[in-house]
Amino acid sequence: MSVDNFLLRYTSVFDDNIERFVPKSDVAYSSVINAVNYSLTAGGKRIRPALLMEFCRIFCDDYCVSIPAACAIEMIHTYSLIHDDLPCMDNDDFRRGKPSCHISFGEDIALLAGDGLQSLAFETMTRINIDSDKIVKSIACLAECCGINGMVGGQVIDLESENKQISHDTLIFLQRLKTGKLIEAAAKIGCILGGANDEEISLCLKYAENIGLAFQIRDDILDVIGDEELLGKPIGSDKEENKSTFLSFMSIEEAENKIHELTERAKESLSFLGDKANDLCDLADYLAFRNK
Ligand code: IPE
Ligand code: IPE
Ligand code: MG
Ligand code: MG
Ligand code: MG
Repeated sequence: MSVDNFLLRYTSVFDDNIERFVPKSDVAYSSVINAVNYSLTAGGKRIRPALLMEFCRIFCDDYCVSIPAACAIEMIHTYSLIHDDLPCMDNDDFRRGKPSCHISFGEDIALLAGDGLQSLAFETMTRINIDSDKIVKSIACLAECCGINGMVGGQVIDLESENKQISHDTLIFLQRLKTGKLIEAAAKIGCILGGANDEEISLCLKYAENIGLAFQIRDDILDVIGDEELLGKPIGSDKEENKSTFLSFMSIEEAENKIHELTERAKESLSFLGDKANDLCDLADYLAFRNK
C-alpha cells in the first residue's frame, strides 16, 4: 500500500469515529466544546493514531479494538499543540492551516480546551472494549508518556532552554521527551491492545524511539526551510523564541544525515516482523523527508 493510502485509511477511521467521543455542544459551556472541535478537526497528519492502529493490526489482524485509543492519543496531541501555541509558550498564531485555538477562541478558552481534551482522552481510553488488564496498562502508558516524566517534562526543558546554550545530550533528552514519548505511547498501546509480548513491544519501541527523534529533527528543519502554507503553521518560530534545536548544533545536511541514520535503525528493529512491517517501514521513510 502507498504511504498516502495507508495514512488516508487511518485518517478516515479517525474522522469517522472522533465525533462519538466528544461531548455534544448543546450545553451552557459550548464555547469550550466548539474550541475542542475546531482544533481536533482542523486536520493534521494523524501520525500517532495511524501508528497506534497499525501496531494493533500487526499483532491481531484487526485495528478496530484500538479506535478509542487512537482517538485518545490524538486528543492528547491536539491539547499539546493548543497549549504549545499559547503566548506564554511558543506564541504562534497559526496551526493546522487555521488561526491557532487561542486566536479564534481567546487564551482562556484555549487553555481550558486543552485541559478538557486531556481529561477526555483518558475517559475515551476507558471505552476500549478489551480485557481490563490491557486497558489499565494502556492508560498507564499514556499517562506516563504525556505527563511530567514525558511530554510535559520535555516542554519544560524546551522552554527553559530558550536564550541559552544547552549540551547536545540535553537537546536529545528534551526532544525524546517532548515529541518522542507520545510517539512511543502510540506504538506501545497499539502493541498492548494487539496482544504483543514484552520482547515484541521492546523492539517496536525501538522503532518508535528512532522515528520520534527523527520526526522532531525534521520539524526543526521545517521550521527553517518549510513552506508555511504546506505546513499549516508559521516558520521561523524557533528562531523568534531563541529555541535550542538540532540546527543549533549542526547544518541542515548533517541533520538530514542523522534523520537518515535514525530511520534506518527504526526499520531494522522491525525486521522480526518480516513483510508485516512494510507499511511502517515506508511510513518511516516518508516521515524522514516529509515537507509537511
Ligand atoms: C507537531 O506534530 C508537533 C511536534 C511534536 C513536532 P505534527 O507534525 O504531528 O502535527 P500535526 O498533528 O500534523 O498537526
Ligand atoms: C512541540 O514542539 C511539541 C509538543 C507540542 C509537545 P514544537 O513547538 O517544535 O512544535 P511546533 O513546531 O510548534 O508544531
Ligand atoms: Mg514548542
Ligand atoms: Mg511550537
Ligand atoms: Mg517545531
